[in-house]
Amino acid sequence: MNVNIMNVDYSTKIPNNVNLGEDRQVLKALEGWHPGYMNWWGDMGPVGFQQSLVYLRTAYSVDPRGWAKFDYVKMPEYRWGILLAPQEENRVIPFGEHYGEPAWQEVPGEHRAMLRRLIVIQGDTEPASVEQQRHLGKTAPSLYDLRNLFQVNVEEGRHLWAMVYLLQKYFGRDGREEADELLRRRSGDADSPRMLGAFNEATPDWLSFFMFTYFTDRDGKMQLHSLAQSGFDPLSRTCRFMLTEEAHHMFVGETGISRVVQRTCEAMRAAGISDPADVAKVRALGVIDLPTMQKKLNLHYSLSLDLFGSEVSTNAANAFNAGVKGRYHETQIKDDHRLENDTYPVLKLVDGKIKRVDEPALTALNMRLRDDYTQDCAKGLLRWNKIISTAGYDFKLALPNVAFHRAIGEFRDIHATPDGVLIDDTTWNKRKHEWLPSTDDGDFIASLMTPVTSPGEFAPWISPPKVGIDNKPGDFEYVKIET
Ligand SMILES: [Fe+2]
Ligand SMILES: [Fe+2]
Repeated sequence: MNVNIMNVDYSTKIPNNVNLGEDRQVLKALEGWHPGYMNWWGDMGPVGFQQSLVYLRTAYSVDPRGWAKFDYVKMPEYRWGILLAPQEENRVIPFGEHYGEPAWQEVPGEHRAMLRRLIVIQGDTEPASVEQQRHLGKTAPSLYDLRNLFQVNVEEGRHLWAMVYLLQKYFGRDGREEADELLRRRSGDADSPRMLGAFNEATPDWLSFFMFTYFTDRDGKMQLHSLAQSGFDPLSRTCRFMLTEEAHHMFVGETGISRVVQRTCEAMRAAGISDPADVAKVRALGVIDLPTMQKKLNLHYSLSLDLFGSEVSTNAANAFNAGVKGRYHETQIKDDHRLENDTYPVLKLVDGKIKRVDEPALTALNMRLRDDYTQDCAKGLLRWNKIISTAGYDFKLALPNVAFHRAIGEFRDIHATPDGVLIDDTTWNKRKHEWLPSTDDGDFIASLMTPVTSPGEFAPWISPPKVGIDNKPGDFEYVKIET
């Protein structure tokens, strides 16, 4: 084991803590992939700002207490590296048929195809989100927010590198082919889309960006947690380090939405508005009304639920049995970690009603992870609702029922209201824009998206953050925009 595993070697073209300098074959494969990645970044990364100096953090260690250093960097010069969390000594496979056996340092032949597929699916989401967010730079509400967008973007790029390293090191020729395909697919492309639905949707404005980082990056968090439990140790270590970065992405979402809610409440109070549902009056103040935020939330939450797949899934059962993908916080769960005789309650459509039905726990793993996700999502809503109630308003943001607006799983063929009342097609078509953003809503939000580029200033629809990045003062120039 490498004793310097905590520190990152910056002497190679590709920074790493996996001894790439001595792994010539993999280093060569990665160096061969690098130009294609840079072309992709140029074509599909952030529009503009490529010559601007951005105050970014770069990982220099994988010690969770102090792993990042902050400095001005031009994005194309960001050092995308291969970083794995330290190897745990004597780690064993924490679940499934191989429970208690030593974790695998190489890919087990029998589970090779399944592992490759999971890595490719995870890998595909990383560049997809960069593509989805590429136009947002030109409408950023502040330099602080612009910097956060770019931080998220370069780290999603690094997450792609992380998956590509696994493919190239452990999967030979077909791994290299998959790595190339990851640069070929494009979010929203008719012929060659990204693999998962939510990653082909547009992220047209900054409220969508905050919702995306809150809800969709959080799906990523849940998936990474499950893969961090994997018996395939290099995957586990990779995901463990990615989670360190992912925390910031969700922070951007949670605080972003908090700041929008805060600003709207302040503006309503200042104007003496007592009914937050009086959309026209609130919009006239140049802030985003709470009902529209609820619609955006409904959209992003429901799209993100689809990422968990079907509630009942033999694929999920197989991945668990195989020791490839575990549960959220697997090692902290008090059971036999095999689930052979357990059941789990699954929401299903039974005789036209939404009911809980006990299913074998093994096939219900997607549902379980989705439930864990929903619980995690609810925490942000508590904070946002606290801001609203503290401002004196009787309005609550809420997660819609899981049957609402679904394209995958039990509820894909029916329509339901956010309260979970089943409705027919006609009613849905008549009422859907009470619950989901309409073109008008989108146009209104777009009308607010004018860029603010002076240090310390913020667009009028969002409050400043409570603290700066890296404890910088409020007027810090997070991005030196090249003119
Ligand atoms: Fe990511
Ligand atoms: Fe992320």
